[in-house]
Amino acid sequence: MREPPGGSGVAGATWALIAAAGAGERLRIDRPKAFAPLAGRPLLAESLERLDACPWVDAVVVAAPAGWEEPAILLSEELATTKVVSCVTGGESRTESVRAALAEVPDEALVVLVHDAARPLVDDALVERVLEPLSGGFDGAVPVLPVSDTLKRVDGGVVVETVSRDGLARAQTPQGFLAPVLRRALEGDLAEATDCASLVERIGGRVAAVDGDPRLLKVTTPEDLAIVEALRRPA
Ligand code: C5P
Repeated sequence: MREPPGGSGVAGATWALIAAAGAGERLRIDRPKAFAPLAGRPLLAESLERLDACPWVDAVVVAAPAGWEEPAILLSEELATTKVVSCVTGGESRTESVRAALAEVPDEALVVLVHDAARPLVDDALVERVLEPLSGGFDGAVPVLPVSDTLKRVDGGVVVETVSRDGLARAQTPQGFLAPVLRRALEGDLAEATDCASLVERIGGRVAAVDGDPRLLKVTTPEDLAIVEALRRPA
């Protein structure tokens, strides 16, 4: 691991935080989700390698599960990453893990991308789409996908209502933010949030929605791992 790229100008401007500290109980394996096997490597290897190689990213911080910091560092060394600056211990919640990783980001950083290790197939084009609105007056940007299923509100196995899907979208990661705005959004006593954009919205930040990527699905169950493995293979 090494220091972030130095020098003047935009070097070190864009930091990627990888939230990898979740337990992933629904995978039913003997290790945290970020270390579930995907194509013979830990799941984390995929996003770590991709973000490290991404030309838009200057430095990377990983939030690992408590007790898994060393394996995360070893993985980063095995992958011969050049931008991984630090590996911190994650927190009880995703938000706490992001906060721990953000503490490693220097004040000079301009932009922070927050990515879930659970979404392995991140690519450069998506990162570029997420970064674009940040130089156009937005505080944040989120990749989204349309909702194609009909949505029902269900209570105890009974359909209570059908919810209109007009204007609804599914949010993915990486999500990008102006660094000072994300810092403000993560200050204080935080309610649990499933993404960082919701915290930025809460403090009045303007968040752009950009096209997501259907391949960027989130691994939750063993079946998801098999799907991601198939999507990962070159056609
Ligand atoms: O649990 P879920 O899959 O929604 O978590 C989304 C992402 O947040 C995962 O990559 C997971 O590793 C991460 N996370 C974390 N710290 C936690 C809980 C989840 O970094 N305490």
